[in-house]
Amino acid sequence: MTTSGSTVLTTLLGLRQSRRFLPTPVDHEDLAQLLEVARWTGSSKNSQPWHLVVVTDPATNGALAECGAFAGFLEGVTASIVVAVEGEGRAVAYDDGRLQERVMLAAAGLGLGSGTAWFSDGESRKRVRELLGLPARFEPWSAIGLGYTDRGQSQASPRLSGRKPLEEIASWGRYGQAAPHRPSRRP
Ligand SMILES: Cc1cc2nc3c(=O)[nH]c(=O)nc-3n(C[C@H](O)[C@H](O)[C@H](O)COP(=O)(O)O)c2cc1C
Repeated sequence: MTTSGSTVLTTLLGLRQSRRFLPTPVDHEDLAQLLEVARWTGSSKNSQPWHLVVVTDPATNGALAECGAFAGFLEGVTASIVVAVEGEGRAVAYDDGRLQERVMLAAAGLGLGSGTAWFSDGESRKRVRELLGLPARFEPWSAIGLGYTDRGQSQASPRLSGRKPLEEIASWGRYGQAAPHRPSRRP
C-alpha cells in the first residue's frame, strides 16, 4: 500500500463525530475549500439538488442549536454548513448524505472536526428556513457542525460509540457465511 493510501485508511477508520469544539475560528479559505468539495460531489443524474449555507455567526449557530432535539451541539461550533435539498425520495436522501460525508472527510483532511446535526421535525426545518432565508422548496434536513475538536472533552456517550461485530453486518459469498480462510502469504 502507498503511504498516502495508508493515511487515507487511517483517517477513515479514525473519523468520529465531533460535538465539542475549541473557540478557535475556522479559516475562510478552509470553508471555501469545503464548499468546492461539496460542489464536486456526484449526485443522481447530476441533479445537484442542494443549496448550502455557511454560518459563522455565533448567534445564528446558537439559534440553529435550538432547532429540534438533536442539534444542541451546534451551540458550540465556530462554523456550520446547513445543507438544504430540493425534492424527496431515496436518490435525494442519498445525494444529501453523500455530500455531507464527503465534506466531513475533507474537513478531517484540513484538520477540522465535524458532526452531523439533524433537524428532526418539520417545525424545526421551517425555523431553519426562516433563520437563513431559504426558499420554501428547500428542505434543510441537517447541518454539518465544524471546528477544532476539543480533545479534552468527551464527544459521545458509549451508546453512540462502538460498532456491531463484522460477522453481524457482512457475509462472504452468501448471507451468514464467514470469510474464507486465507493462508498467510508470509513464509
Ligand atoms: C443520518 C445521521 C444523522 C445524525 N444525526 C445526528 C444528530 O442530529 N446529532 C448528533 O449529535 N449526531 C448525529 N449523528 C451522528 C451519529 O450519532 C454518529 O455518527 C454515530 O453515533 C456513530 O458515531 P461516530 O460517528 O462518532 O463514529 C447522525 C449521523 C447520521 C449518519
